[in-house]
Amino acid sequence: MKKRIVILYGGRSAEREISILSALSVIKAFDYRYYEIQTISISLEGTWLKGPFLTEKPTSENILEKTTELISPCFIKNLGDVVFPVLHGPMGEDGTIQGFLETINMPYVGTGVLASAVAMDKITTKYLLQTKGILQLPFVPVLNNDWSKQTSSVFEKIEGHLVYPVFVKPANTGSSIGISRAENRIELQTSLELAFQYDSRALVEQGIKAREIEIGVIGNDDVQTTNAGEIIKNVDFYDYHAKYIDNQISMDIPANIPEEINQQAREYAKKIYITLAGSGLARCDFFLTKENKLFFNELNTMPGFTEFSMYPLLWENMGLNYSNLIEELIHLAEKRFAEKQHYFAVKTFENCESSLGSQ
Ligand SMILES: Nc1ncnc2c1ncn2[C@@H]1O[C@H](COP(=O)(O)OP(=O)(O)O)[C@@H](O)[C@H]1O
Ligand SMILES: [Mg+2]
Repeated sequence: MKKRIVILYGGRSAEREISILSALSVIKAFDYRYYEIQTISISLEGTWLKGPFLTEKPTSENILEKTTELISPCFIKNLGDVVFPVLHGPMGEDGTIQGFLETINMPYVGTGVLASAVAMDKITTKYLLQTKGILQLPFVPVLNNDWSKQTSSVFEKIEGHLVYPVFVKPANTGSSIGISRAENRIELQTSLELAFQYDSRALVEQGIKAREIEIGVIGNDDVQTTNAGEIIKNVDFYDYHAKYIDNQISMDIPANIPEEINQQAREYAKKIYITLAGSGLARCDFFLTKENKLFFNELNTMPGFTEFSMYPLLWENMGLNYSNLIEELIHLAEKRFAEKQHYFAVKTFENCESSLGSQ
């Protein structure tokens, strides 16, 4: 019997367009001799719409635009064996969808609730990794509440810790949305106001001139990493527009860096993934300075996933092609699910036993 995969795409975040591109690539990569696909689109408002059911490779580029009926999210249980949430950003990559799938007891591809939520929050991630001996850029967290009440002391705190230029980021976004660079106090004010349009918590980070190096990570308990790839930028800061609309970036895979730096980045990526309780997949991003110092930037738990995105290309370079990569991720989802069922059964059984014993 064919395995039925539910592909969730779209979603409520500003990154929904990227999700649709990633989902389109994913559904084309399945081997339809062994899989059939139920697509489900999540609208900006959070409603779930049944999309096409596919038993063979789609030929149309517009296939995902066709949705048929509104469904209740819980109904997803009847529609497939494993869910692949091809969703980026808040309400997709941040543990919320993952929590829902845990609650209804469905296997799903990618990171679990904890790692998804932590990795989506740039401030919490920084705090968690502080004791791990991995360099991170200095930063100052800012709450909108403090900013609106004590603007001057927020400025003083930032200027006491960091030097311009700085990068201002909402704690929870992705794909450069709401992020900007500030060269002085006036720009800092504009940047903070922009960041607070997206979140009530922001992070002001030391700006750095550096190369951007990325490592692919896969696995549950047994964690594997790729060699590094490099993002080559034609612009100083690659924002959402530069990244996805103007295509002002290219990739160098493998990155042209010393082998010891490549190994160090791989080792760090593995350590970070394990520390944050990663499972399934992630892409770990670093800055690399002229002096060959590596600074951790972020862990993306559902990195861009089109056939031409960095994460799949990093694996392609290691000899794992796009279709096999997707199959491996489904296998990992099933494996983690089976293990969880076991732990859950043991805990429930023990609890029942002890509560019976105490009666
Ligand atoms: N501290 C920094 N110094 C220099 N460039 C930065 C800094 N922080 C972010 N950037 C630039 O902004 C981009 C987006 O920032 P990042 O923290 O990766 O957020 P996102 O989650 O949106 O990808 C980075 O890829 C990099 O080009
Ligand atoms: Mg990034």
